[in-house]
Amino acid sequence: LLNLPPQISSKWPLVGRAPTALCLCVISMLLCLQSPASCTTCPQKCRCEDQQFYCDTQGLEAPPDGVDRGALGLSLRHNSIAELSPDQFYGFSQLTWLHLDHNQITTVQEDAFQGLYKLKDLNLSSNRITTLPNTTFIHLINLQILDLSFNLMTALEPELFHGLRKLQILHLRSNSLRTTPVRAFWDCRSLEYLGLSNNRLRSLARNGFAGLVKLRELHLEHNQLTKINLAHFPRLWTWTTLEKLDLTGNEIRVLTPDVFETLPNLKILLLDNNKLGSLDPLVMDMWRFLGTVGLSSNLWECTKRICSLATWLSTFKGRWEHSILCHTPEYAQGEEILDAVYGFQLCPNFTVPPPVVLTTNTLSMATDASTGTTAEVTSSLSRWAVTNINYTGFKSNLKLPPSPCLHTKKIKCTR
Ligand SMILES: *[C@@H]1O[C@H](CO)[C@@H](O)[C@H](O)[C@H]1NC(C)=O
Ligand SMILES: *[C@@H]1O[C@H](CO)[C@@H](O)[C@H](O)[C@H]1NC(C)=O
Ligand SMILES: *[C@@H]1O[C@H](CO)[C@@H](O)[C@H](O)[C@H]1NC(C)=O
Ligand SMILES: *[C@@H]1O[C@H](CO)[C@@H](O)[C@H](O)[C@H]1NC(C)=O
Repeated sequence: LLNLPPQISSKWPLVGRAPTALCLCVISMLLCLQSPASCTTCPQKCRCEDQQFYCDTQGLEAPPDGVDRGALGLSLRHNSIAELSPDQFYGFSQLTWLHLDHNQITTVQEDAFQGLYKLKDLNLSSNRITTLPNTTFIHLINLQILDLSFNLMTALEPELFHGLRKLQILHLRSNSLRTTPVRAFWDCRSLEYLGLSNNRLRSLARNGFAGLVKLRELHLEHNQLTKINLAHFPRLWTWTTLEKLDLTGNEIRVLTPDVFETLPNLKILLLDNNKLGSLDPLVMDMWRFLGTVGLSSNLWECTKRICSLATWLSTFKGRWEHSILCHTPEYAQGEEILDAVYGFQLCPNFTVPPPVVLTTNTLSMATDASTGTTAEVTSSLSRWAVTNINYTGFKSNLKLPPSPCLHTKKIKCTR
């Protein structure tokens, strides 16, 4: 419809800058009246589609001119933008998503996002942001997703997230945060996902998560936390929405029951790779609704102190992904906790489960006894079960002597 010479159309529109451009604009507006689809022109370095502008990987140092003010989405991924100035996006009142990830943004001026009343999704990940002014997001009253991961932030301004009442997802992973301000998320009453993994958190601010009345997932993995405290007065506050808490890869040595009293509906708790040696039985009393637990790679002490955990594990109906192994004492090191408890009879009151009926299903390889060969127990059988075999179900008269098999994971026994 609009056959402009390329050198003009590429700079289009240059409203107010040149009389020719103004003239072309008028022509364009007239055309628009006839056919609205032709209203938008596409800046040279962008791909445009239904009022969504994709200007990725173009070496841009600033958002390009000529993006239509009625744009619904703008992607500026993988460019070289270093700074966002005040009112940078002023007038883009229809914009619902803005992707600025993988640039070199170090500075975001106050009011850079002013006017983006409809913005729902803002991606600032993989930049070089060290700090953001208090008022950065104050105008984004409809923001639902904010991604600030992979930046260089060491601290958060106390009121940075104020006013973000519709925010549902907040990514802050892979920064250098040492703490979170008191009541930092106070206004985030719609937040369901908070990602703070891969930071340098050593402690959590008392009441740091107050206000998060809808939070379902809290990611704190790969920090330097030594203990967990979620509330100042745990008994007065319960966090009924939280379903997943990831604390993998911290320095936690002790867990106290009050933390889990606060979390009555927790379903997934990941504590792999910490420094736990034993657990207070009262802690596990609080783990009623857990479906998945992660307790691998800790400093479990397989003495009588492990009995409460072993008891809990033996009745736990949910699952754990990685083996939970003893760290000390030396003779038990590397043994699975339940194996150690049965094998070394650590817990006198521990009820021995019913014998495993040996069938060809529990053997990965079994041959008739008359040929006198080997049998291998599949890894689905825990080692302690091997000491407690009921041979009746096994077809042939091959008998596996239990004792030589006790200390090998995948047993191989010859008649
Ligand atoms: C933000 O951009 C990064 C990199 O392109 C992407 O991996 C991430 O999923 C985006 N964030 C959201 C919330 O979509
Ligand atoms: C952010 O807000 C807090 C509380 O009003 C104030 O103490 C702090 O100085 C503000 N920071 C900036 C950079 O404006
Ligand atoms: C078994 O004994 C240990 C300590 O001796 C105790 O903590 C645990 O509660 C007992 N378990 C049961 C099921 O009685
Ligand atoms: C062994 O298993 C068989 C078949 O399930 C059962 O009838 C028998 O009672 C079991 N023996 C023992 C000692 O549990």
